[in-house]
Amino acid sequence: MKNIDSYTHVRGESVYLDDIPLVNGTLFASVYDSPVAHGKIKSLHLDEAMKMPGVVRIFTATDIPGENQIGGIIADEELLASTHVHFCGMPVALVIATSDEAAKAAVKKIKMEIEPLPIITDPREAKEKNELIIPPRTFQLGDTTTAWSKCDHIFEGQTETNGQEHLYIETQGAYAVPQENSAIRIYSSTQGPTQVQRSTARVLNMPMNYIEVDTTRLGGGFGGKEDQATTWGVLCALAAYHLKKPVKYSLHRMEDMRMTGKRHPYSSDFKIGLDKEYNILAYEAIFYQNAGAAADLSPAVLERTLFHCTNSYFIPNVKATAYSCRTNLPPNTAFRGFGGPQGMFVIEAAIAKAAEKLNISPIVIQQQNLLRTGDEFPYGQIAQSEANECWEKAVELYDLNKLQQEVTDYNSKNKLSKRGLALMPICFGISFTKTLMNQARALVHVYTDGSVGISTAGVEMGQGLNTKILQVAAAIFSINPERIKVNTTNTYRVANTSPTAASASSDLNGKATEIACLAILQRLKEVAAEEWKTEVGSVKIKEDWVFVNDKQTDWIWNKLVQTAFVKRVSLSEHAHYAPPGIWFDATKEKGHPFTYHVYGTAITTVTIDCLRGIYEVDSVKIVHDFGKSMNPIIDIGQCEGALVQGIGWMTMEEILYDKEGKLKSNALSTYKVPDIYSVPKEISIHFLETEKDNLAIFRSKAVGEPPLMYGIGAYFALHNAVKAFNPSAIISFDAPMTPEKVLMSLYQQ
Ligand code: MTE
Ligand code: HPA
Ligand code: MOS
Repeated sequence: MKNIDSYTHVRGESVYLDDIPLVNGTLFASVYDSPVAHGKIKSLHLDEAMKMPGVVRIFTATDIPGENQIGGIIADEELLASTHVHFCGMPVALVIATSDEAAKAAVKKIKMEIEPLPIITDPREAKEKNELIIPPRTFQLGDTTTAWSKCDHIFEGQTETNGQEHLYIETQGAYAVPQENSAIRIYSSTQGPTQVQRSTARVLNMPMNYIEVDTTRLGGGFGGKEDQATTWGVLCALAAYHLKKPVKYSLHRMEDMRMTGKRHPYSSDFKIGLDKEYNILAYEAIFYQNAGAAADLSPAVLERTLFHCTNSYFIPNVKATAYSCRTNLPPNTAFRGFGGPQGMFVIEAAIAKAAEKLNISPIVIQQQNLLRTGDEFPYGQIAQSEANECWEKAVELYDLNKLQQEVTDYNSKNKLSKRGLALMPICFGISFTKTLMNQARALVHVYTDGSVGISTAGVEMGQGLNTKILQVAAAIFSINPERIKVNTTNTYRVANTSPTAASASSDLNGKATEIACLAILQRLKEVAAEEWKTEVGSVKIKEDWVFVNDKQTDWIWNKLVQTAFVKRVSLSEHAHYAPPGIWFDATKEKGHPFTYHVYGTAITTVTIDCLRGIYEVDSVKIVHDFGKSMNPIIDIGQCEGALVQGIGWMTMEEILYDKEGKLKSNALSTYKVPDIYSVPKEISIHFLETEKDNLAIFRSKAVGEPPLMYGIGAYFALHNAVKAFNPSAIISFDAPMTPEKVLMSLYQQ
């Protein structure tokens, strides 16, 4: 089944925040944000701005009726700076005017005097100064201290991974419209409608039931709107609350890039020990996460780095410690993979370093140590592994030997152009690592004409969630999908939602939908059973028709629904789903946090131009563990998109802050994302067939984030291509591997 949004997408008819028709009298907002990364506010001059044409009012922290607080995990983030600023881009004042242009023009007239304070941008420096968001955390398995003595080879090193700008096509934004009795409706481009609702209630000192958040869809979120859509929703609501007028704010691209957080940069240390057969006996890692100026989701992201620090390998002795370091950058936040990719890069670098020193292919070490079913993860969960299956299938299906031979041949024939190849196995845990977040609800109505309306906790952001929800209902009822409509995500219809994140939303919301549909179906079958004086078990609905004892009756779905209504049977259901069996004890750092894991292997080949340092990704050949995909078209799209996003992070997307904490790569002229020319020339995706049971909806495993980590393969393929040209190059593990870095390492002495 194709994505149900494709029709309106290609016609330009899909509704995003900026497409919502405006209510008469709507005002426009724009933020004045701090030009300085750290300091004490001495004075704020708003007079000039107030005199600008069209300006209605300017709000500051003193206008907040409730708490000036938007911190989620930790209450450490002000909505509007009161006495201090902690990062360049921190909102200080909110200008409201009769047009977007007027608001932006007025922002330029605001002046602020600041007493500067020391600026930290480097996480290791923050750690030295004890600027930590939370106490460090350590995951441990076995005993590394005794294991080192058993190792024949020990290697140490340092790695860096940079941040990543989300660059959702639709920038952040919100539109708040006052309702009667002081209630407020907020249209928000958010992955977390409840987050926006909860923060608005807190800031306005209002009960949550007066705040309605409604989301039709996002033009991409990628994690950037899990927590950080809140600011704009709350700011619009604050102005609407005071002015009793609708207020809209749709951020300019450069405002968005400057004010919002990104993927967390990490600096890390590793130590890896192997025996003679290249079994990894011990692994230690220390992660320094650059959290930015406030906690945001950093503690949860940090946790996932630890969960994925051994990727898809079994290592009997592990000790991994992670520090969440407070710096004067915009608070960094969720980004597809959520800390997992950062952890996985380090183990891959450790393996690459060991292989280089041992003068063997990293592939030997990778394969030797793949996780098997029954192996224990450092956090105590026992693996149900597909790592070997994916790896072996990839090697066989894509003929690894031949691919390697082609690279060798190419390199021996070409002087100024070199190829590199790398394998990248992945393993990603599905579930929010915070157990309580793993719950969702669905509200299903069957109308008297037989049409079906569904609302869930999940937000459509291009990942195809609504299509999958619709498929669930169509399959359970066994009716034509055209009878079904998935509605906007709305906190009045479905309450207390977790954000649409962690790749888990089709599982969570799909299963809630399944439960609701099954309950309605049961009641409908009872109506039919009564009519035909038979058992409920003898009644079936098949493709819109009622069957009794496997014989088709003259009742079509509509007739069944109408009869049920006449008999005063409920045609609506609200259902709740919480996956069973997951738990985690943070005092011991052990548990069973994930409902299941997703596995896969990618083979990546690249070609570099050894005169210019530029490169192309020739092919990425993947075997991916989809379980049993319920929508292969959507799932392939997710794989391709995530892969390219991962390659972008690893190769070309370079975030640059200067020492003063100012973002230099603040526009699309200075920040390069993959375009049509930089995607791999060939992407092959093979579905690993498994009949094993899992907790995914219809056994169709979550797919949103895991394939991003295949992109790490591009980094190591480039690494190998450089080595083919300059075998003596000592390449530091410093991602992204930009053309500049490639060029420098090609000619490194
Ligand atoms: N795909 C598109 N097109 N746009 C997005 O914003 N976000 C990704 C992924 N795929 C995203 C996407 C992220 S970060 C997550 S966590 C999942 O989708 C969330 O949706 P799911 O739980 O339905 O997979
Ligand atoms: N993944 C994604 N988003 C989250 C998580 C997680 O594990 N925890 C909290 N938000
Ligand atoms: Mo995705 S980073 O969990 O929104």
